[in-house]
This record gives sequence, C-alpha cells and structure tokens, in this order.
Amino acid sequence: MEIMKYAIEGYRDVEALEYLGIFGNPIKHTLSPIIHNTISRNLNKNMRYIPFQITDNLGDAVKMAHDAGIVGLNITVPYKQQVMEYLVDIDEAAKVIGAVNTLVRCNKGYKGYNTDMYGLAKSLVSEGVKLEGAKVIMLGAGGAARAVAYMCLKYGADRVYIVNRTFENAKNIADDMNAAFDCDKIIPLSASDYYIIPNGRYIMIQCTSVGLHEGDGLPLISDESFFEKAEIGVDLIYNPAKTPFLKLVEENGGKAINGLGMLLHQGVKAYELWNDVEISEKLIKNIYKALCRVSYDNTDNIVLVGYMGCGKSTVGRFLSMACGYDFIDTDEIIEKREGMSTSDIFSNKGEEYFRKLETELLRELKGKLKNTVIATGGGMPVKEENRALLKELGKVFYLKASLDTTYQRVSGGTGRPLLDDLDGNSLYNKIKEMTAIRTPIYTEVADEIIDTNEISEYEVHKVIAASMSSYAKDVE
Ligand code: ATR
Repeated sequence: MEIMKYAIEGYRDVEALEYLGIFGNPIKHTLSPIIHNTISRNLNKNMRYIPFQITDNLGDAVKMAHDAGIVGLNITVPYKQQVMEYLVDIDEAAKVIGAVNTLVRCNKGYKGYNTDMYGLAKSLVSEGVKLEGAKVIMLGAGGAARAVAYMCLKYGADRVYIVNRTFENAKNIADDMNAAFDCDKIIPLSASDYYIIPNGRYIMIQCTSVGLHEGDGLPLISDESFFEKAEIGVDLIYNPAKTPFLKLVEENGGKAINGLGMLLHQGVKAYELWNDVEISEKLIKNIYKALCRVSYDNTDNIVLVGYMGCGKSTVGRFLSMACGYDFIDTDEIIEKREGMSTSDIFSNKGEEYFRKLETELLRELKGKLKNTVIATGGGMPVKEENRALLKELGKVFYLKASLDTTYQRVSGGTGRPLLDDLDGNSLYNKIKEMTAIRTPIYTEVADEIIDTNEISEYEVHKVIAASMSSYAKDVE
C-alpha cells in the first residue's frame, strides 16, 4: 500500500484485514487510535487505525487511501476545509459547517461528514446539559466555532451570542447559520461589546485556541462578572484538562466541561458511520476512561510477568479491550519472526538462543512503546539484563499463582517447552522446582504483585486498571 509511506513511526508495519486512518499535520500525538482500535478489538474486527502525516498533496493522499481500500478516514488540522475539494459527496450539515472531519468510503471516492458537531452535542447530553431552549455564548469564530454554531441551532438553542476578537468573522458565521436555519437566533459581537449580553444563565462555549498552550494567559474575556452568567462552561480544548477559561467558570460557580468528551463522541460517531454499527454505552465509557488515563494520568506501559499459566495473555487482552491499551506478547513476536513455535525454537536451536532473542527484543522495544501491555515469556525476567529492561519498559505486575494453581492450569498440556513430555508427578515436581527458582526473581522485578489464586483473569485486569489510573477504577 503506497499510502503506508505516510504512516507515522510505529504504524508502518501494522498488518490487518482492513484499515482506517487519520490525515493531519502534525499528527504524532493523536489519541484517535485509542478510540478506534479499542472499538475494533471489542467488536472482534481485524481493522486497524493508522495516523498518516500528510505534509502536502492532500488530493493524492486521498486517492491513494481509496486505491488502498481504506474503509474510512478522519481529517484533522489543517485539512478539514481543504479536503472538501477531493470528495465525491458531502453531507448537508458538513456543507453548511464548511468543514469535514470524517470520510466514508463509497464506490468512486469518499463522502465527507462532520462528526465534530455531533460529538459535542453528544458530550453535552452525557453531561446532562440540554441545548434545547438554552441560551448560549460562544467565544471565538474560527473553523471549530462554525460547527458549534451549527450544533446550537440544530439542537434547538434559543439564542446564541458569538463573541470574537474580529467582529467580521463572528458576523460571517452568524449570517451563514441564520440563513441555513432561516432564523435570526445568532447574534455576532465584537469582544469589547460583551457587556451588551443580557443577564441570565448561559452555556458558554470556548472555541478559540487560547488556553491550548502554557503561558497563553487569559481567555478572550476574563471579566469575573461576565463569568457569573456561566451556568455551564465548555471548552473545546481537552489538554490541559482545565484551561484558564474553565477555571474562571468554576471559580464563579459554573460547571466545567472540557473537550475530551467531544473528541470521544466524534470518534465513536465516525466509527459507526464507517462500519454501520452501534457502539454500546458501556464500551464508550471505557474508551473515555482510557482517553482520560492517557491524557491526564501520564502513566506508563504495563509489563506482565509470572510463571506460565498465570494468565498474562488473557489479562493483557482484557486490558487492551476494556482500557484501550495496545497489546503485545513477546513470545508471539519471537515465534512470528522465527517462523516456528516456542517449543520448536527450544528443541531446534536451544534455550540459550531463545533467551538471546528475548533480550534483543526488549532492547529493540525500549523507548518505542506507549500505552501498551507487554505480556512476557515466563523465563524472561531470569536474566538480570532483562529485568532492568522490563522495568524501563513500564510498570511491572507479577501475576502470582501458587504451585497447585499453576499445576492445575498447565496440566492440560499447552505446548510449553520446558514442560513438554512430562505428566503427573514429574510435571508437578518440575513446576515446583522452577517456581522455587523463579518466585524470588518475579518478586524482585515486580512493582506490584497480584495474587491470582482466588480471582479470575477478568478481576485481575480490573485491579491493574485501577492501579494504573485515577480515572479507571470502575472499568467494566
Ligand atoms: P479553529 O479551526 O480551531 O477554530 P481558527 O480557525 O484559527 O481555529 O480560529 C481561531 C479562533 O480563535 C478565532 O476565533 C480567533 O479569533 P479571530 O477570528 O479574531 O482571529 C481566536 N483566537 C485565536 N487567538 C486568539 C487570541 N490570542 N485572542 C483572542 N482570540 C483568539
């Protein structure tokens, strides 16, 4: 696929049956893969989402994506307007808004939609905020503000003031949207005229880029008395979680809502358009927690260690499905590279060779992973160098199981190299011998030890999720 040349590092070799993606520049820090890859995993779809850094020739890139069979794309800064030139069709709402953030594949090209508008509306609904009959004050009149103004009218706001540094830009949006909805509910104002707005309780929506960068200073309007009008304050920015605007809202008794919910719901809506499915509320909630964790908790990768049969792979898969982590299994990677099973590598090339591959793999992964669960081979931490590398990779959890539990779990025979051809007593004794050696090693490398004897793998993933995040304590 020619389009893969634009994929950012870490995504170029991704193999899947079907692909989704996002075009933007810059694109390295996008959170969208967490949304879409988590949904695909939960729906058991072999479909992966790839960030593409498009620096020029947007039209060619759209064509390349279509030729490559890409099912759907998100479009972000700076291409939401420009991409409209390269589409075979555009949804009516997106036409009025004048921006497209989602492309849905059709026969000869893509059809454009704007799910940002829907995303913000859904995020307000989920916060219990009603737009119908509401009075709204918008700050800002750029591209994002157009979608917000459209949303306000579509969902029945009673009156909308658009306050902007440059009056003309506010007036343009007001004229376009009032015309589209055949009304005069939107009133443009220059920033210095904000005091004209009558007293009352408003939903204030911050649509400028002020607050995105540290040191941005005060929002467009910072007069405390203005914020007394804010029953609800919404900022389209989600990082930082609390912009100066949202702080002013809270200080004056209003409820603050940042842009993370909008990001979530625009993504979910896009996925639904691409795949003609409906995403459950439970999954949406878990993705939201994953987004919070990655955006605000600044946590690390998860490394799972423990004796064979302790549930590393199953727990890892639960974490990746429910909590939006990527998942890798070091044994699987090595098997794939060598083209044979772990047992065959042991018998054909020896344990020493396998251990060497493990160390090489850890060195290679160092510094390259984020938001990933790494399930490790049972013998991985035996080498001291590996232990140091594992600790550098992320937070290490030892899934501890007693000798009896381990025996029960592995006695079904699962092709494990060091236990092949053993049964009954000799298997039990071999496990006893190996756990005696490895238990202190696992204990040494662990940041946290989880006793898995009495709880299921499902419960284990919840304990880990809670330990990793202040937001994910009640992962379903
Ligand atoms: P986006 O597509 O994200 O909305 P944009 O189209 O560049 O971005 O719009 C940016 C908005 O932020 C505009 O309303 C802009 O005001 P102007 O129309 O007067 O340019 C506003 N904005 C950006 N920087 C600002 C600042 N320092 N103070 C006040 N408003 C600002």
